[in-house]
Amino acid sequence: MLPRAARRSSVVSSTQSADLSLDAAVLSEAEIRELVARFGSPLLVVDCDQVRRQYRTLQAALPGVDLHYALKPLPHAAVVACLRDEGAFFDLATTGEVELVKAQGVAPERCIHTHPIKRDSDIRDALRYGVTTFVADNPEEIKKFVRYRKRAELLLRVCFRSPTAVCDLSRKFGCEPRAVLELIELARRLGVRVRGLSFHVGSQATDPAKYIEAIRACNDLIAEALLAGLPALDVLDIGGGFPVPYSEAVMSIESFCRPIRAELARLPAHVRVIAEPGRFIAAPSAIAISSVMGKARRDGRWWYYLDDGLYGSYSGQLFDHAKYPVSALRTEGERHPSVLAGPTCDSIDVIDDNILLPELEVGDLIVGRMMGAYTWASATDFNFFKRARVVVMNEHPAAAGRVVRLERKAAGH
Ligand SMILES: Cc1ncc(COP(=O)(O)O)c(C=O)c1O
Repeated sequence: MLPRAARRSSVVSSTQSADLSLDAAVLSEAEIRELVARFGSPLLVVDCDQVRRQYRTLQAALPGVDLHYALKPLPHAAVVACLRDEGAFFDLATTGEVELVKAQGVAPERCIHTHPIKRDSDIRDALRYGVTTFVADNPEEIKKFVRYRKRAELLLRVCFRSPTAVCDLSRKFGCEPRAVLELIELARRLGVRVRGLSFHVGSQATDPAKYIEAIRACNDLIAEALLAGLPALDVLDIGGGFPVPYSEAVMSIESFCRPIRAELARLPAHVRVIAEPGRFIAAPSAIAISSVMGKARRDGRWWYYLDDGLYGSYSGQLFDHAKYPVSALRTEGERHPSVLAGPTCDSIDVIDDNILLPELEVGDLIVGRMMGAYTWASATDFNFFKRARVVVMNEHPAAAGRVVRLERKAAGH
């Protein structure tokens, strides 16, 4: 148990900056040192209070929208449990994710399975758990549901390319809007129920314009399906994509969602709207702590070799194109351009090759902020450098202090 640090009050502004959203993840220097002394390094410190705060903030910005936390950015038992207690819904994409929510006692009717391409075993595992809503985007996938047509229903994923999003997820999945009616017709012929439409505008969306375009197009498709005498589409899944500030500020979530709310209000009243946020809930909820394990002077600069890097928690710099705010715990001393490298023998494993730092010593600690999403989840044990150990804070809302504990075995560590 660590002492509860004073909370800085959160300022609502028209942009979110990394500093503001760090609010709850702030640990004092002494607390960070104590964590490393107790649990070793590298660490990923997940703050469930911040998970709750992010969930509630997004829920307030999108009232009436059922938020299904997408497990992929941070598939962690403590995060699932705290969102379960918040009354959240869940978005699953693999059998591993099914197992994780099941282990946390999440009711299957609160879950949907949204991977557009599935093995038969994936479908069966999810059905056995009790999930009944799946996603498909092409005829072959729809045909897989013929044998399950009495137990499963589908959302059709529609493609809206998003060249301005940091990760354009419609490159790989989704049918063209003009193909939707034909697919519903095919499903009807096969006896498979299509319940609604879904889309994902791309992760870390830069502005809400793509959502507006997609909601408008889906609204038109819902009307066209009705006119064509096809079964009514009564679910619209607006996906994830909600942005967070890394090294650059982004729109506040309230400003971001305002035009989305206005567009959703034009949908017919019978349409239930759901969303699949991942990054927005997970990213600000964790910090990564690593240690300098060696240093070398090269070409007039200090290179610091950490025990975590691009093959570990910083994997998101490669896969997710994120640039995390990173700083040294040591602040005294003149700052010089320096290099922060990961521990592996690969020369690509450099976190930052031009960061201003005071001179560091072996054992000094480095803190990466905004590191809850697509970081630990995509980390590897390459070169036998183990993934960061997860430590969970404020697991229960009523925790009198900062409850810090080791990760449960069930979540893999
Ligand atoms: C189907 C699906 N839903 C939701 C998400 C979560 O998106 P985000 O983290 O941008 O909110 C993803 C991310 O890859 C996804 O593929």
